[in-house]
Amino acid sequence: MQEIRLFSGEMIPLERHKVRIVQKLELLPVEERLSKLQEAHNNLYLLKNRDVFLDMLTDSGVNAMSDKQQSAMMDADDAYAGSETFFQLEAKVQDLFGMEHFLPAHQGRGCEKVLADLLVRPGDLIPMNYHFTTTRAHIVRCGGEVLELLCAEGEVYTSDKPFKGNMDNDALRTLLKNSERNIPFVRMEAGTNLIGGQPFSLANLQECSGICREHDVPLVLDASLVQDNLYFIKSRETNCREMSVREIMRAIADCCDIIYFSARKFGFARGGGIALRESPLVNPLQELIVLNEGFLTYGGMSVREMAAITVGLEESMDESVISQGPEFIRYMVEELTKLGVPVVTPAGGLGCHLNAKEFVPHIASDEYPAAALASALFIAGGIRGMERGTLSEDRHADGSEAHASMELLRLAVPRRVFTLSQIKYCIDRVHWLWQNRELIAGLRFTREPKILRFFTGELEAVSDWQEKLVARFRSDFGDSL
Ligand code: F0G
Repeated sequence: MQEIRLFSGEMIPLERHKVRIVQKLELLPVEERLSKLQEAHNNLYLLKNRDVFLDMLTDSGVNAMSDKQQSAMMDADDAYAGSETFFQLEAKVQDLFGMEHFLPAHQGRGCEKVLADLLVRPGDLIPMNYHFTTTRAHIVRCGGEVLELLCAEGEVYTSDKPFKGNMDNDALRTLLKNSERNIPFVRMEAGTNLIGGQPFSLANLQECSGICREHDVPLVLDASLVQDNLYFIKSRETNCREMSVREIMRAIADCCDIIYFSARKFGFARGGGIALRESPLVNPLQELIVLNEGFLTYGGMSVREMAAITVGLEESMDESVISQGPEFIRYMVEELTKLGVPVVTPAGGLGCHLNAKEFVPHIASDEYPAAALASALFIAGGIRGMERGTLSEDRHADGSEAHASMELLRLAVPRRVFTLSQIKYCIDRVHWLWQNRELIAGLRFTREPKILRFFTGELEAVSDWQEKLVARFRSDFGDSL
């Protein structure tokens, strides 16, 4: 195990790296934080990074790179076609997944687009443990429908179940046996993003794979967050204790027919790609990659990024590397739990998730509790989290709100980026907000896009509650930032 215990018995997420390049951060006074938030129309995506102190929006493309990644980037082979750097990346993917073909894409959603274009037809049904926003948007764009078959405990906020990302395999078996709809593939998502970075177990994936093979339906894995899932299998699944991370990775890949990933997460750089074995799908997928992403030896990625991904994938097989994110997240979850703050448990990967339904139960779903909490935390500490709730859903066809089953504020912990004192600061400001939660009220749209509205939509506070929060901050913290 990689955990470090202090003499006092305290367990801390000790960094197993040292900082060699830094970026200066500015913490604006609380009054300025409010005015920057209002300039950004209460949508944290619209903030300027220079106005953010702790950027916990996402782990996507913002993980710290290692010295070895940086040096590999200097050595990349620049070519439109036939770059040696691509062949090194391809060899690494083949080595880790045991799949012959690797098709590069500019990022995860590029993979999702070409897979949906090829595989999804109007009326199709795509079962999955849980959807991701961009995944579902592409499936729906092609006329398909997503069916979530997440295990029963998956959407329980507070739980001690180690694998809340598991597929409900009984439901999948029944569906594949009885469905009259066309099911082009089954999708499993590692480190299930929207329910709090929760993993599946290897046993669950193996059973799911057996069912798919029995019914001749391909199993597609979204491996964007597989590094966290690997760590949780290694540390939580008794039968896998003796397996190396690499062996677990291969056992996962053996279950799947197609694996795609965002290398903004898996690989600690920026890019993505699709891996698969020899199949009639290879040629049509290659055509779509060339059409949408770029030539088959770069797929929209710069050669420098491909070089960094190759090293990052190899580093993801090192338990002391992949443990860093989950250990920091567990620390946050445990400290916040001690303070009585409602968080998703057990701690997952990707980030610490606040349960906005319980944090601000007085805010109606139509006034976006998790988004309101996100705006309040920016005021409280210059901390940018990401709403993962009703605001991240698109409306029903009749214009009514599609209420998310979970209302979460995700505080992402990009890998190897923040120090423990920054995490402690974040815990402190969340605690202060929890003590002052009655001041927080809702938001409403002033401009609402039709597709993926959370990215660019504009909102306003339903009252002057944000000004009142600033006043409370001043009276509690005096001159402090
Ligand atoms: N699949 C999963 C599970 C993801 O988490 C993401 C991205 C994608 C696919 C799409 O990949 O961004 O490279 O196009 N998640 C980011 C996040 C956006 O912040 O959670 P992408």
